[in-house]
Amino acid sequence: MNIAIIGTGYVGLVTGSCFAEVGHNVICVDCDEAKVKMLQGGGIPIFEPGLEEMVKKNVAEGRLNFTASTAEGVEQSDVIFIAVPTPPLEDGSVDLSFIERVARDIANAMTSYKVVVDKSTVPVKTGEKVAETIKRYCKTDCEFDVISNPEFLREGFAVEDLMNPDRIVVGITSNKPEAAMREIYEPFNAPIIFTDINSAELIKHAANSFLAMKISYINAVAAICEASGANVEEVAHGIGMDERIGRRFLNASLGFGGSCFPKDLSAFIRISDDLGYDFGLLKEVQKINAAQMDRFLKKITDTLWILKDKTIGVLGLAFKQNTDDVRMSPAIEVCQRLLKDGASLRVHDPKAMEKARELLPAEGVTYVDDMDRVAEGCDALVVATEWPEFKELDLAKARDAMTAPLLFDGRNLFDPAEMAQLGFTYKCIGR
Ligand code: UGA
Repeated sequence: MNIAIIGTGYVGLVTGSCFAEVGHNVICVDCDEAKVKMLQGGGIPIFEPGLEEMVKKNVAEGRLNFTASTAEGVEQSDVIFIAVPTPPLEDGSVDLSFIERVARDIANAMTSYKVVVDKSTVPVKTGEKVAETIKRYCKTDCEFDVISNPEFLREGFAVEDLMNPDRIVVGITSNKPEAAMREIYEPFNAPIIFTDINSAELIKHAANSFLAMKISYINAVAAICEASGANVEEVAHGIGMDERIGRRFLNASLGFGGSCFPKDLSAFIRISDDLGYDFGLLKEVQKINAAQMDRFLKKITDTLWILKDKTIGVLGLAFKQNTDDVRMSPAIEVCQRLLKDGASLRVHDPKAMEKARELLPAEGVTYVDDMDRVAEGCDALVVATEWPEFKELDLAKARDAMTAPLLFDGRNLFDPAEMAQLGFTYKCIGR
């Protein structure tokens, strides 16, 4: 298939590379010319395991190309995927201006039948608007179909998720585009669900909100565990073995973050409101998430008493493991709030230090390249991201380098018994 992908963010770039990897001809479009130049030269603007090799290979083999011209992308392809950002607005609703802009650009460039696929996360009924917009701005009377194909990849596992999806959801209004979608996804060997567009759009918001709810649920259970002396990991294991519940996304933490869950929750609440339903359950999910961060920080302030003039080591800045993404990162919030209370920080992240510099103030933060040196002179250590390499930390060395052996683990990376044996005062989540 000849495919255009408009937008080379996480979703667009990974989707384009994986489509090329299975043999399709892909042209990725981005309005940022510097980014296009970088990609054409084999550079990758994000860290995502396996992506760089895949991009380089498919560029070299001629199946993956980049351009800043939407017209060029539209001209060279039969199926056009829209994968541009849909950022949140102040009131929790979604900014759809990028989608609308792209719809107009596609309309202006269309000279033959095209399948236009929305892959960005959008409110229910956006497909209808995109179709109306294309119809309005298209100067020729060529036919087109607008369909919905939400993406379920996780950052940090994007290539793995895209190559091995649990399911592929496609929302269509006519049968015409079905064959093209079957052909595109045939190599992925996953079940394809064909449904109507509104349902497909809703599946995405409902899925992300459900997963966020699962995390808030276990975080609320973690609070009960702390108050009662139970262990949240034992509870998660015990309930997760029920296949109806499942163990995944039941890791208690200092709260969820990232560019998807917080945004999609707010959007889904707003969408429901607009449709006349007060989704109080999801408002509670947000509340629990905010309270989880407060409870974690309170453990630090209750123990250290005064933060002014204290030095705290923070392990992890990314919003989760395996990524350099710091957008809406709980780790960044921890840093900002500790700084606000007067602490100085020594921070480390295997991949996200550069991006964190853009969000954290220049003063009061020391970036430490070697994770084993973060603890030097610290009054406390905080684990804020679940990078597996933190488990290899030389804890005895860290303990000896600190003014007092205090560790706050927001990701339950370490074993409480081992930490006690090493002489740490160790506080974690729900254990
Ligand atoms: C999420 C969904 O998992 C994807 O299916 C979806 O495609 C994506 O949003 C999107 O809409 O684009 P992502 O934001 O990349 O993916 O990251 P997750 O792995 O879902 O983690 C989100 C947050 O929840 C992170 O801060 C993570 O640390 C936290 N989390 C996750 C927990 O606190 N506990 C868990 O058990 C799992």
